[in-house]
Amino acid sequence: MSVSQFNPPDARLLDDIRDLVGADGWLDGEDAQRYFDDPRGRFEGRGCLIVLPNSTEQVAAIVRICNAAKVGIVPYSGGTGVVAGQLSIDSDNAIIMSLERMNKVRQISLDDSVIVAEAGCILENIHSAAQEHGLMFPLNMASKGSCCIGGNLATNAGGIQVLRYGNARELCLGIEAVLPCGTILSELSPLHKNNTGYDLRHLLIGSEGTLGIITAASLILKPVDPETGTALLAVKSPAHALMVYREIRRHLGDSISALELMSGLGLDLVVGKFPSLRSPFEQSHDWALLLEATGPLGLGDRLESALTDCLEKKLVLDAVIAQSQSQRDSLWELRENTPAANRMAGAFCNSDTSVPISKVDAFITDTIAAISRIHPDVQINSYGHIGDGNIHHNVFPPAGVTKAEFLASNPGIIDTVRMAINDITRRHGGSISAEHGIGRLKTRDLETFAGKARRETIRRIKFALDPNNIMNPGVLTN
Ligand code: LAC
Ligand code: ZN
Repeated sequence: MSVSQFNPPDARLLDDIRDLVGADGWLDGEDAQRYFDDPRGRFEGRGCLIVLPNSTEQVAAIVRICNAAKVGIVPYSGGTGVVAGQLSIDSDNAIIMSLERMNKVRQISLDDSVIVAEAGCILENIHSAAQEHGLMFPLNMASKGSCCIGGNLATNAGGIQVLRYGNARELCLGIEAVLPCGTILSELSPLHKNNTGYDLRHLLIGSEGTLGIITAASLILKPVDPETGTALLAVKSPAHALMVYREIRRHLGDSISALELMSGLGLDLVVGKFPSLRSPFEQSHDWALLLEATGPLGLGDRLESALTDCLEKKLVLDAVIAQSQSQRDSLWELRENTPAANRMAGAFCNSDTSVPISKVDAFITDTIAAISRIHPDVQINSYGHIGDGNIHHNVFPPAGVTKAEFLASNPGIIDTVRMAINDITRRHGGSISAEHGIGRLKTRDLETFAGKARRETIRRIKFALDPNNIMNPGVLTN
């Protein structure tokens, strides 16, 4: 099976789809352009029609039409994915299906602590809906203002609170989805126990739209803790960052909700690119750790005493604790603007791999050494979710060289760096995609680095559920 194996839609099929959704339900030409944008500007999407169904029944009807004619569908959520999972990059023939009009919160049940949200709900709107009821939805990431829950689930998104609350998968009790044959799987009941065979919810979550289209989900809400402590800590090395993690966990247990590593280079970069931001440290440091913990009254005092311990033991070189919500926001802005700063600085590699926590230090040392061997003058900003073993390396041309010049004089370096990181990740027992997925960008990486059993099982499941290869063809398998 290959990407090109689905059929081009004929004019009648496109008319049928347009009739089905009505005048507000489709776009093409100029209006379609924004659905072809890649957030990192690396790919250009294509497609013959953008269709915007407004109900699960419409999604099912469109899927049935496409399945009968063997026409490919690319599901589109917030468009924030960075592995081209939402972009048809090899074919003009796919129908792009955006669920943005399915953006209702269908129900909030306080007794179940569950919100039922349609796939097109923007993540931040789910946060607000939960907040109105004194609850919170813990999935969180920099793109929260534009990413949508359907895509979050389809890609099993991670983000900044995984170490306490898990990935998107762990926060979902049930889904409604349209399968490749057009059948609606309706399993939204918020059950904590349901042993009735294969867990189809978890098969669809993380399938990147290759096994069906998630149209709604029952999501777990959590109580809001009364106290939050946020601190930026200067540390000597990633090894020290991990020692700080151990020490603070001894004091605060599972209250730590976020633990983000930042490099000195990354901090300089973000304050350089965003003049309204300031580093709270008086001097520069090689590494910093952004820590957040939430818990019962008294948590702030416990955090302070944990940090005093860390300072006395010289695990932490300097510490800034936010004293207000606005100070907390300022610390988080440094982290949240890091991906944009990387982009502005001309990053040509943005890795997303994970290793066991016990291997993070060796992983960072080995990868930085390997990248420097490939090109001694590149700059590397290593940052990310150290508490999950998920470090992102961003690699830039040497100072004074533009990305275009550098790539022209170093052909193939993007792949060489990515594969070197993948190699070291594998050596440390890691995963070549921690939280961004495989999409179309990493299908070759999956072929190369996944074991035979995984590769074959993925293919068998795909063919069993989607024999006509209409669901996001070219993603995961090629
Ligand atoms: C981040 C994105 C790139 O953590 O995953 O900034
Ligand atoms: Zn990340």
